[in-house]
Amino acid sequence: MIVLGLESSCDETAAAVVREGTEILSSVVASQVPTHSEYGGVVPELASREHVDNIWFVVEKSLEKASAEWNDVAAIAVTRGPGLVGALLVGLAFAKALAYARHLPFLGVNHLEGHIYSVFMDHPEAETPALCLVVSGGHTNLYYLPERGEYKLIARSRDDAAGEALDKLSKFLGLGYPGGPIIERLAPYGDEDAIPFRVPKITDGSLDFSFSGLKTAALRYLQTNDIEPLRADQESVPSEIPQPLLDLLASYQKAIINQLIDRVERALKEYDVHSIQISGGVSCNRQLREDLLTTFEAQGLPVHCPNASLTTDNAAMIAGAAYHRLKLGKTDSWDLKANPNLRL
Ligand code: KG4
Ligand code: ZN
Repeated sequence: MIVLGLESSCDETAAAVVREGTEILSSVVASQVPTHSEYGGVVPELASREHVDNIWFVVEKSLEKASAEWNDVAAIAVTRGPGLVGALLVGLAFAKALAYARHLPFLGVNHLEGHIYSVFMDHPEAETPALCLVVSGGHTNLYYLPERGEYKLIARSRDDAAGEALDKLSKFLGLGYPGGPIIERLAPYGDEDAIPFRVPKITDGSLDFSFSGLKTAALRYLQTNDIEPLRADQESVPSEIPQPLLDLLASYQKAIINQLIDRVERALKEYDVHSIQISGGVSCNRQLREDLLTTFEAQGLPVHCPNASLTTDNAAMIAGAAYHRLKLGKTDSWDLKANPNLRL
């Protein structure tokens, strides 16, 4: 059974053709980074307009790359939330129109479920019960999965998401957008122990994350040490960046990683699991993957991350996540609404 998936929750217009929930026949992503980078972050209205411009092309390309015909498609799945409402509406309206015209079942998928499902697409061997960390530009959520398809949210960020913290610092320093990959590229040139950022403790004993204090500490460090953001004529390459700034980037990235690992370690005291999983845009960070592997595999716990193309926003994870519901004969009705704050 072939599902056509669509994803337009933020700044990526994506379509994918997936067979039996895991076999990715095609996955096409039109990135809007060039549009938003001059603003240092996603401009919602520009995102919606660009989704409108790109979505048809992306769908056609995904079918062509999969060598699939419309008659091969058994259902259409689309992200219905969480995300930017205008951006979500483009994908949702388009998916409904396609499904209606082709007389196909239609399914709305939770974007976060898509991210979690991406781990199983790449690692079918991943065992439950598991802890899954979803780290992206919009979310830092830790889930306990008693089994596949069952989710218990056990921690979330009380303020900024991990990716947002990276994006905001990068924007402030004039380094560019998105911040995560830029900081990842520059961090090896700095000393990650230069600035001793602390892992924040939540006083009520919860496992929740918090990244806004880290951002404030970074800004204070810049002020105290008289470090200026990059000028417009400077490029974000190591040779143009003063050493204290490179040290800040390395220490900041390390502090984010340390907090993510700290919360997983604490969660392990409460939850007995067979694997640790990680997904979402930030999870393609090599340092994060390496640190997770060294910390948890030493304790005999396998750590599973999907390959890089499945970590950032894509439609294959949406088509995959929909498949199991479709197999049970569950589909959605035409009045399904986009929900920018949809929870999982
Ligand atoms: O999952 P995603 O594509 O979109 C959301 O659902 O938010 O995640 C985007 C986030 C951005 O904050 C971006 O800076 C971050 O993922 N990101 C990274 C890396 N690649 C993307 N963060 C750290 N290291 C990376 N290599
Ligand atoms: Zn995402």
